[in-house]
Amino acid sequence: MNFVYRGLCCLFLLLVISVQLFAQSPRKRQLLNEGWKFHLGHAANAEKDFNYGLSNIFAKTGRAEKTAIAVDFNDAAWRTVQIPHDWAVELPFAFKDNDDLKDHGYKALGGLFPENSIGWYRKKFSVTTTDSGKRFSITFDGIFRDAKVWLNGFYIAANQSGYVGFTVDVTNYINFKKENVLVVRADATQSEGWFYEGAGIYRKVWLNTYDNLHVTDDTFVHTITQADGKAMITVEADVKNDGLQTTEATFYTLIKDRTGRIVAKTDVKRVNVNSNDATPVKQQVLVDKPIWWSIEQPYLYHAEILVSRGDKVIDERNIRFGIRSIDIKADGVYLNGKHVKIKGTNNHQDHAGLGSALPDYLQYYRISLLKQMGSNAYRASHHAPTPELLEACDSLGMLVLDEQRLLNSSPEYMDQFERLVKRDRNHPSVFLWSIGNEEGYAQVNGFGKRIAQTLLAKQKQLDPTRTSTYAADLANVFTGVNEVIPVRGFNYRQFAVADYHRDHPQQPIIGTEMGSTVTTRGIYVKDTVSAYLPDQDITAPWWASTAEQWWPLAAENDFWLGGFIWTGFDYRGEPTPYKWPNISSHFGVMDVCGFPKNIYYYYQSWWKDEDVLHISPQWNWRGKEGQNIDVWVNSNADNVELFLNGKSLGKKNMPRNKHLQWSVAYRPGTLKAVGYRNSKKLVSEVKTTGAAYKLKLTPSKQILLANGSDAVVVNVLILDKNGLEVPDAMQEIKFNLTGGATIIGVGNGDPSSHEDDKILTGQWKRKLFNGHCQVILQSGKKVGNATLNATADGVKGAAVQFAVK
Ligand code: GAL
Repeated sequence: MNFVYRGLCCLFLLLVISVQLFAQSPRKRQLLNEGWKFHLGHAANAEKDFNYGLSNIFAKTGRAEKTAIAVDFNDAAWRTVQIPHDWAVELPFAFKDNDDLKDHGYKALGGLFPENSIGWYRKKFSVTTTDSGKRFSITFDGIFRDAKVWLNGFYIAANQSGYVGFTVDVTNYINFKKENVLVVRADATQSEGWFYEGAGIYRKVWLNTYDNLHVTDDTFVHTITQADGKAMITVEADVKNDGLQTTEATFYTLIKDRTGRIVAKTDVKRVNVNSNDATPVKQQVLVDKPIWWSIEQPYLYHAEILVSRGDKVIDERNIRFGIRSIDIKADGVYLNGKHVKIKGTNNHQDHAGLGSALPDYLQYYRISLLKQMGSNAYRASHHAPTPELLEACDSLGMLVLDEQRLLNSSPEYMDQFERLVKRDRNHPSVFLWSIGNEEGYAQVNGFGKRIAQTLLAKQKQLDPTRTSTYAADLANVFTGVNEVIPVRGFNYRQFAVADYHRDHPQQPIIGTEMGSTVTTRGIYVKDTVSAYLPDQDITAPWWASTAEQWWPLAAENDFWLGGFIWTGFDYRGEPTPYKWPNISSHFGVMDVCGFPKNIYYYYQSWWKDEDVLHISPQWNWRGKEGQNIDVWVNSNADNVELFLNGKSLGKKNMPRNKHLQWSVAYRPGTLKAVGYRNSKKLVSEVKTTGAAYKLKLTPSKQILLANGSDAVVVNVLILDKNGLEVPDAMQEIKFNLTGGATIIGVGNGDPSSHEDDKILTGQWKRKLFNGHCQVILQSGKKVGNATLNATADGVKGAAVQFAVK
């Protein structure tokens, strides 16, 4: 654990250094994340929507009077928010018998709640006059959804997707002597998925400043491993001239290792670019003795692309990439020629307390948790991930299956796919594209096949270094998309994989969604009122399977490339098999906070080459003395012996890719497992605890960067007098923070909790759920200390201090 967090700190330091490197470049990339004003509009009442729909804003350019778009609109009464911001997580839960509402986690958003479904954002920023004559663009990494954007009263963009980002050239609308006013209207009435999606500007916003002569955003850096062990790096870029004269420039690329040392340099190429035109440049250079990017050692290089006129560098692009090869064959995925079984998880993007608006640190936190379980791959289901998720996967060594939102080849969706592939193709972690998921209507007919062919042709054109899959909820069926898809994806139906392979032996097969045991952390009896399920690998929906039903098949057959569990983390929305009062899913191996459920240890046993010995359940069963309790042991030991209060309950051999079970008459005391793994003794125990005595806070780190956006996760539990964790504690915890940080969210992993994740005014608080809850803090910009105090009735409180620097 410590090692991972030390790693995270180093990563953040590297991030800061690279930000400083960018600062010296002629190109500027500035965050526009702070000081936004926010107000809800109204989807059914134009007056409450700041006259949108009453005032004719498209009649004359630059004029949008009497609306919130107007430059002089008074937004003093609007709330100040920091991007990333998700207004959906701030809304109350609302019960109505409506499937879209249920799927989105019963947040009062969408067509039934017009008063909550439009979000207006306004941001003022200045641009120095010394930059006049430069070009400017604004990048939105993601807005949920259907956004319209104005700058200084001028309409500049519309973007439908709730996931793929967009960049718009705003050079002609910039003010140098006055403030600039950027306005966004986001309409989250219509959803895209069938899971919690959030609402608003929940990803970063950037202002880019650069020269008329510049390298476009589409630059592609890819690598080929040669027979002699060297790596050939190819850089493909477009040099664009937005000036009025034809211009000449030179172009070259430096390849730097992660310390900044130049390891290779391309030839210098002369380029002539006509006005309003772009010249493509392709360069290749060899790197001797490269350090390969791998899951174990995710080494990253930088390609520094420089465009100069005379001695002066006019533009610079710094692209982080990895040197690695990926081959996907019918008998496996080969990374740098080495066979890798895919041990993956599917995930949506929300986290406890935060909804979809995650500080960067949380991406690293979540990916680290998955790695600790032994997972090596992440499927971004079912939409473009945030750029920082991919950066975390590049940095920590996690393969990514990157997915298009919809199987559709209309101009809108082809454009979304093109933006996704161009944005993500430089990431070494991305090993495979997915062109869609479970298109129940089109996947088996000619529509699906033709759409797939169009998307596949586009993928090959934009990224010939990778291939694609499609997540089909079909058994041994070969019509439609499956006929043309290079890698057959199976959602569930693991029983049909062998037959499919027999009939199509050349087509690689991957489990795009597998398992899907529904469990509630710390619950051992099914509870249909609270909508809880036992925390063991026993309950799966009809279409799915338990972990032990699919993983042994994938582990023991090479024609399975591996698979992705549905899901790594619980997520808001899609409560299954229950509805209200459930507001989030039960599918996760971890809950929404990232607290492991028992099934986590099954996967860890067989996915990670480390000793695992885990006993469940906990051993506090007052009132059940003498009654039989099912005890599960998850381990990769060769055999395990179980003892209750020193008395052996028998020794059993551990079957590979399974678990062991005992039925034990409950007596308070100590339940102990002793296992041997390659003759190494492993011991694990659970004990009956005393009463709750004092709180314990476990922060994921204690140093925060004073950058206004760093974050830390603090896990909360209660100990008894002997220092044992009380697993069934449910107390409400109150949080107070002093100093240079703020609380930005709380959660506890209870899928039926209707407590607030965000507390906008008043006391921050959260109940423990089966012994755990979580509070997330964000740093301010002032150097100093911050202290988090936690208190609860009847127990001793706890505090933890952070250095903000
Ligand atoms: C699949 C679907 C996922 C999720 C899952 C729940 O059919 O692709 O998004 O809905 O079922 O079991």
